Amino acid sequence: MGRRKLVVGNWKMNGLRSQLDEVEAIGRVAGDHPAVEVGLCVPATLIDRASGKAGGAFIGAQDCHGARTGAHTGCLSAEMVREAGASWVIVGHSERRTDQHESSADVAAKALAAHGAGLKVILCLGETLDTRDSGKAIDFVLEQLDQSLPEGAAADWLAIAYEPIWAIGTGRIPTMEQIEDMHEAIREALRAALGGAQGDAMRVLYGGSVNAGNAAEIFALPDVDGGLVGGASLKAESFGPIIAAAD
Ligand code: PGA
Repeated sequence: MGRRKLVVGNWKMNGLRSQLDEVEAIGRVAGDHPAVEVGLCVPATLIDRASGKAGGAFIGAQDCHGARTGAHTGCLSAEMVREAGASWVIVGHSERRTDQHESSADVAAKALAAHGAGLKVILCLGETLDTRDSGKAIDFVLEQLDQSLPEGAAADWLAIAYEPIWAIGTGRIPTMEQIEDMHEAIREALRAALGGAQGDAMRVLYGGSVNAGNAAEIFALPDVDGGLVGGASLKAESFGPIIAAAD
């Protein structure tokens, strides 16, 4: 299968204008690795400026609302982040599912709204450590997928990111076998839900403590099509080798 690797940085609530030089530097690394699709999901306040500096990388947003317009103080619609310069958006990150109490139905609505506004979407899934320890991680993630997958999902605008919550920002990652088992299960579920061709074409990223030391091994797993990278994406120095590992 010719799935192009996708490596996306998630800056979370980090980044001021003074960090735009890093965006430029990361864009230059992305330009050196055209075989890899590289993006940076920056805070919404930086999308406009960052999109002019990102070189070979795309700029994405970290969230959008599920409605087109309306009385939602403080929220941003998909059309707004798209107009600001984002071409992708992350939906359903575990930090938002937890902190903002977003349900899988909310996440599916956000994904649909994003697609309607012409954005591509990274849809995040992942289990807690308790769920992992109880042996129910795959069941949990497949149910989350079933409930979060938007109607009409297709590989040309949607990618999945498997991010075990206990691996995010902790320096702890699952074993390669655990990652591959989960990705294989997600792939099978996508094939069942969307048909074989779409299920085979859709990219499934791994996220959670990806760094320069572990990226090559993770990205070499058969059903891993790249990564969603938090802490290590903040600087070109640490993100560059991860992009190179995907090449
Ligand atoms: P991390 O974050 O790479 O800092 O673990 C990943 C994420 O939350 O997307």
